[in-house]
Amino acid sequence: MERRNFLKIMAAGAAVVAVNPSLIRGTLYADDGRLYVTYEKAQIVDASGTPIKASSLEKEMTYIFNYPYASTPCMLINLPESTQQEVELKSETGESYVWKNGVGKDRTVVAYVAICAHQMTHPTPNDSFIQYVPKSKPTMAYSKSGIIVCSSHLSAYDAAAGAKVLGGAATQPLAAVVLNVAEDDTIWAVGILGPDKFQDYFKSFKPELKEFYGGIAQAKQLVSISAKTVKLSEFSKEVIQY
Ligand code: FES
Repeated sequence: MERRNFLKIMAAGAAVVAVNPSLIRGTLYADDGRLYVTYEKAQIVDASGTPIKASSLEKEMTYIFNYPYASTPCMLINLPESTQQEVELKSETGESYVWKNGVGKDRTVVAYVAICAHQMTHPTPNDSFIQYVPKSKPTMAYSKSGIIVCSSHLSAYDAAAGAKVLGGAATQPLAAVVLNVAEDDTIWAVGILGPDKFQDYFKSFKPELKEFYGGIAQAKQLVSISAKTVKLSEFSKEVIQY
C-alpha cells in the first residue's frame, strides 16, 4: 500500500474519554472485569470520513481499521451467515469470558484485533499474513474456510465464534473489538474484549512503529471520534495467504 493510502486510516484525534460501561452492559461479559476494556467510542468511517453502514459492508471482505490505538490494526468482517451466540472462551492463562455475538441486522458483522495471538503477526503497509479467508478459498490452516488465518504458522480462528482457536500455534483467541450498531445502521467501536497483546506489540515493534507512525507516542495515541477503514488489499501492498 502506498503511504498515502496508509495515512488515510491513521487516527485523527487522541483525547481519552472512557465509555461508561453501563452504555455497553448487555453487549459483552467478562467474569472478572479484566478481560474487557472500554475505550472512547469511535465511529467506523471510510477513507473520506463518511460513516459506513453495517449492511453496506462487502460480504467476506477483510477491512482494516486502527483501534483503540493509532497503530493497532483490527479486522472488520461481514460474514456470510449469522454468528454463534454467547460463546465461552478462555485466555491462555485460563481466564474465562463470553463473546456475545456479531452485530448488524443479521448478526453477521464482527471485528477482531488483527494481531495474532501466537507471535503477533499483523498487517503492515508492506504486507499482511493475517486475514479472513472467504468460504470459496482454500486454506492450509484448517479443513474448511470462512475463517481467520494467520499464515505465519497457520493458526486458524473461528470468525463466527469470538475468534476461538480452531488450529495451529495460537493458544488463545484473538481479542475482539466490541461493536455497537446504531438505529441508522452506523457502526461504533466501543471497547476490547479478551486477551489483547497491545503492550507486547508496542515493545516488540518499536522500529516499525516509528517508521510507519512517526514515533512511539504517536503509535500509542488513542483513537477518538472516528476510525477510518480500508480494505486489507489497500492497507497492505502484499497479502499472503496459505
Ligand atoms: S504469528 Fe500467527 S500463527 Fe504464528
